[in-house]
Amino acid sequence: MSCTIKTERITKAFGARNVLDGIDLDIRSGEIFGLLGPSGAGKTTLIKILTGQLSQDGGTAYINGTDTRKLSGAEHRKFGITMDNFGLYERLSCAENLKIFARIYGLPNNSISDALAKVGLSDAAKTPAGKLSKGMTGRLKLARAFMTDPDILFLDEPTNGLDPVSADEIHKIILSEKARGKTVFLTTHTMTEAEKLCDNIALLSDGKIVEYGTPAEICRRYDHQRMLKIHLYDGQDMMLPHNRDAAAALAALIEDGKAETIHTTEPDLETVFMELTGKELSA
Ligand SMILES: Nc1ncnc2c1ncn2[C@@H]1O[C@H](COP(=O)(O)OP(=O)(O)OP(=O)(O)O)[C@@H](O)[C@H]1O
Ligand SMILES: [Mg+2]
Repeated sequence: MSCTIKTERITKAFGARNVLDGIDLDIRSGEIFGLLGPSGAGKTTLIKILTGQLSQDGGTAYINGTDTRKLSGAEHRKFGITMDNFGLYERLSCAENLKIFARIYGLPNNSISDALAKVGLSDAAKTPAGKLSKGMTGRLKLARAFMTDPDILFLDEPTNGLDPVSADEIHKIILSEKARGKTVFLTTHTMTEAEKLCDNIALLSDGKIVEYGTPAEICRRYDHQRMLKIHLYDGQDMMLPHNRDAAAALAALIEDGKAETIHTTEPDLETVFMELTGKELSA
């Protein structure tokens, strides 16, 4: 099932603050799109607008060509959403949590066990949600998002606060959904996550998209940040610019027999983001 997302000049202000200031996105069916930006950049606000939880002040968002303000209930069911405020009932078991959701949507009981199996939580079906580890909680939220077998997943920081192993489990689940043809719109603070998962990313800063493209493309645009890292025999590391200016210094290090290894370091998304916004992404 194909599912595209397009936005044209979306704006949203809270009081005097323009949180979103003309957002244009064009997300293909079946891609994993990552929206990156520091805290308060407006990522959750955009997800809320796309999923009909909040109205924009200006501009239009389209899902499969339909204005999101005109989507029917049945079309909304084609969204799987995970966000912080979509809470779980801590005293209820995993299965009971999903049962509430199944009732609301009129889904058959097997949708509960199917969703739990998909995220590797079958054995925890009877465990109260409040007793789950953070990683398992993240997976239970995903399970709920999967219950209506949505065409499109909106995942707001799906791995926030998770250790690398738990984050990796969630990454695998997201990638397997992509393999099933789902379109994924995720937000993240983590560059490595974006580089690993996303076909395209947008960097959001002060309400505007300041970069948009594949992670590799964006990094290539900032190739002037490429450096040479020289490891010296005395144990120290030296950084030199990857250009002619460094030639004499580099030649001297080699002639003097001081350089043990030389590597080029490519700019990563974190450095690109710093250059664009002066802010750290994870700040
Ligand atoms: N309902 C609201 N009323 C007033 N201001 C709001 C409201 N929702 C969000 N904001 C403000 O809009 C800005 C963007 O918030 P948003 O939650 O979209 O950021 P975010 O990029 O998701 O941040 P984080 O990475 O911390 O989740 C913030 O300054 C926030 O305080
Ligand atoms: Mg947010």
